Amino acid sequence: MSTSLEKIVALCKRRGFVYQSADIYGGLNGVYDFGHLGFLLKQNIKRYWIQSILTTQPNILFMDGAILGPHAMWEASGHTQNFHDPLVDCTNCKRRFRADDIDLAKVCPVCGKKAWTEIRQFNMMFKTNLGAVADESAIAYLRPETAQSIYVNFKNIISTNRVKIPFGVAQIGKAFRNEITPKQFLFRMREFEQMEMEWFCKPEETDKYFPEWVNARQEFYTTLGIKKEHIRLHPHAKEELSHYSSRTTDIEYEFPFGWKELEGIADRGDFDLTQHSKHSGKDLAVYDDEAKKSYTPHIIESSVGVDRLFLTLMCDAYTEDVADGEERIRLAFSPRVAPIKVAILPLVKNLSDSARKIYTHLASHGLMLDFDESGSIGKRYRRQDEIGTPFCLTYDFQSQEDNAVTIRDRDTMQQERVSTDQILEYIMRRLV
Ligand code: GAP
Repeated sequence: MSTSLEKIVALCKRRGFVYQSADIYGGLNGVYDFGHLGFLLKQNIKRYWIQSILTTQPNILFMDGAILGPHAMWEASGHTQNFHDPLVDCTNCKRRFRADDIDLAKVCPVCGKKAWTEIRQFNMMFKTNLGAVADESAIAYLRPETAQSIYVNFKNIISTNRVKIPFGVAQIGKAFRNEITPKQFLFRMREFEQMEMEWFCKPEETDKYFPEWVNARQEFYTTLGIKKEHIRLHPHAKEELSHYSSRTTDIEYEFPFGWKELEGIADRGDFDLTQHSKHSGKDLAVYDDEAKKSYTPHIIESSVGVDRLFLTLMCDAYTEDVADGEERIRLAFSPRVAPIKVAILPLVKNLSDSARKIYTHLASHGLMLDFDESGSIGKRYRRQDEIGTPFCLTYDFQSQEDNAVTIRDRDTMQQERVSTDQILEYIMRRLV
């Protein structure tokens, strides 16, 4: 991995991809806001994720569940008992650490003393109370995964959609985890977004679908332009499995801080539907017309964080090279995910009106654009290279004579003269 996390963080801040949340109040640890370019990049990530899920299997439905869930639901899911990390305190400087993040045989990395407490388990769910009632019925939690709202709606989904097993339900939404030590920027946050897909199938079909989903999910990352050699699979050993999983394969990415999980594909078996049936008293089994018996469907899940994938794309695209004898930073995004597709650059300000017409035309076709009329053309190219814009379109004096513009490719820096009535077709062809 050629870049460092510090460079990525600096670029995200400098160009307004990501802001520390509540920065003017000192910031909130593990919580980030996304600026204009960050918003656009996230939108593209979500769009291609949806496309990829829809083209992997037929019968995919969507939903948008609530973030708050009642105590009883998280009891049933096993999260109140099992969703914790090992915590240790330094009694000298009062800092908290994840016990598996540090070497307890050594001194505290902050104060240099060796004064550790016993390791205890820290539940990572954010707990709150609904309304003014103080008893247990009012306790709710911010969801630590989006998946549970799909499971508890299983009967609603079946009865309101004409679907039969096998089918999938996909969801994109916020999740919250009170991480002991949020770190590595967008890698481990306290508030983040997940893209999850729950595939409901017959128990005997999990062995067929599990590898199919793993392959499809791995392929997704190459379609986003991520380098193949930076992606690998990591099948979990028994002791690594979450409480709900009977088998899991992670898709790992080689981040500047090492190989880490990007996405998890888990065989959750009938754990979730069985638990919710037991705890709610509502039968979540389905009837098999052929076998003439009821059974509880099994679930294969794929789950990836939008923000973690955002960081992955930034790391993978970050490039330093030399252009026209000058050092430049270039985000070599695939044109699919690039936040801005085309920058419109009038050579001088009094060509802006004509260039604006091209801007309006391209924008009316849904293209995300930037209009930049300040500074030398070289400087403007550098600015666009740094945010990953694949095409720069220059409107010059000759454009008024020949009705053509120059389009420069971010990576090759080659320039082509394109007639104004061909621009849209030219760009669309190169964006796929
Ligand atoms: N429903 C299954 C589930 O939540 P997970 O492995 O705990 O499984 C799935 O999380 C994905 O969510 C991870 O692979 C990662 O991409 C993302 N994720 C998890 N915790 C995160 C955090 N604290 N910050 C950012 N992304 C996170």
